Amino acid sequence: MKNITVIGVGYVGLVTSAAFSDLGNCVTALDINEERITNLKKGIMPIFEPGLSEVVERNVRAGRLFFTTSYAEALKDAEFVFIAVGTPEGVDGEADLQYVRMAAETIAKTMDHPLIIINKSTVPVGTGDWVSDIIHENQPHPLEFSVVSCPEFLREGSAITDFMTPDRTVLGSEDTNAAERVAQLHLPLRAPIMVTDLRTAEMIKYASNAFLATRISFINEIAHICEALGADVKEVARGMGYDKRIGHHFLEAGIGYGGSCFPKDVKALSHMAQIHGKHPQLLHAVMEINDYQRRHVLLKLHDVLGDFKGRIIGLLGLAFKQNTDDMREAPSTTIGDYLSEHGATVRGYDPAARDAAKRVMPYLELVNNPYELVKGADAVVVLTPWNEFKQLDGQRVKEAMRTPVMIDGRNLYEPAAMRELGFVYHGIGRGYNTGDNS
Ligand code: NAD
Ligand code: UGA
Repeated sequence: MKNITVIGVGYVGLVTSAAFSDLGNCVTALDINEERITNLKKGIMPIFEPGLSEVVERNVRAGRLFFTTSYAEALKDAEFVFIAVGTPEGVDGEADLQYVRMAAETIAKTMDHPLIIINKSTVPVGTGDWVSDIIHENQPHPLEFSVVSCPEFLREGSAITDFMTPDRTVLGSEDTNAAERVAQLHLPLRAPIMVTDLRTAEMIKYASNAFLATRISFINEIAHICEALGADVKEVARGMGYDKRIGHHFLEAGIGYGGSCFPKDVKALSHMAQIHGKHPQLLHAVMEINDYQRRHVLLKLHDVLGDFKGRIIGLLGLAFKQNTDDMREAPSTTIGDYLSEHGATVRGYDPAARDAAKRVMPYLELVNNPYELVKGADAVVVLTPWNEFKQLDGQRVKEAMRTPVMIDGRNLYEPAAMRELGFVYHGIGRGYNTGDNS
């Protein structure tokens, strides 16, 4: 059993805290957000993440997981301190490191014994050294510490499983002894552990996210070509994926990637390259294609409906992906904002992101199920591939609508079946982008 402190109790910090306590360690999770900590002490989760509340409850009950807002309390017995605060997009596309700086300064001012400080937040290459400097500069008395980079690769919606069964653990440090001790913490996860220098570990995280985003933009570009040539991108991706060198993952064409990570991380990597005099052409193309996907969906809708003024349009799914309530960079916000600004009544349904969506889309008329969503609607736009949308009663949906128009930004349905039901149906890259064929 090790004493671990986790700074920042968001998607990553809370999962990290829950998972390490479940592995038998004693974990104190700290956040500056008092409401979040008060709620967690009452068992109220700040996020929707399948399976998370059970693991949190189990470990709080077992006396292995604690929540606090006090750095002094959190660091008292700590051996390992994970920094898992947000690193959102800054004004020029760089990662905004203000929360990391604040956390590092407070750790430095509060620590009263040696610590291993682990950067779990996604931070620009060189941040490990910068954190070291901040700690040195802010310590009232010199105390030993080491900085280790341990990037996180979990996905929202499957965070607990991803954390507990990672494909690899990447550790970066100039202090091999510290890296070895952090490696020991991760042994129960039974994944290959790779130890590198700090900067390489930091780069592995950005390169991994950028590569996955590239696959998505690649298949979206292929989808556009499919629309011009009459091929079906779903089958194309399937055919490509059987090649073991390619694989099936991250080849789903659609509305493009959203969320709190791919958009900001691709931008931040591009920014890092540019300030060092490099021209990241591929990253620019990835972002350009991704931005276009949202316009592409709006254009398809416009082609069918014409003017949006006075139309009732239902957004089926609001979260940036299924199994989460996270609305950061959700395509629904771009689509909803545009439709609302152009005079449409925008309705929304999402199984988990209801409250989160209302906060960022105040104009939204929220409903309780997909059938209410389409009642009297001029069109429905599919934006999140929740499982519960896969078996909708198409006949019932069609009959409820004023005009049976469906723009399927997630390719959830089969074009031929939808057309047979009488829908004007447009997917992404499912054949010619004209008339009834796409
Ligand atoms: P989040 O916004 O959900 O949570 C961040 C938390 O940090 C908030 O609760 C905030 O109050 C707290 N915080 C901010 N400053 C603090 C401080 N000085 N002291 C204590 N707490 C503080 O963020 P997230 O989505 O968990 O992401 C955290 C980091 O992990 C980011 O760098 C992100 O890129 C990376 N990451 C996220 C995911 C993901 O799926 N969300 C996956 C891998 C990596
Ligand atoms: C992503 C990575 O998958 C994680 O490994 C990483 O840790 C995380 O970012 C991070 O750094 O925060 P996440 O954003 O939670 O995880 O979700 P993904 O499943 O990767 O989906 C990202 C976006 O791409 C979603 O909008 C999703 O709908 C979209 N997507 C995904 C596609 O459009 N097509 C695909 O084939 C796959």
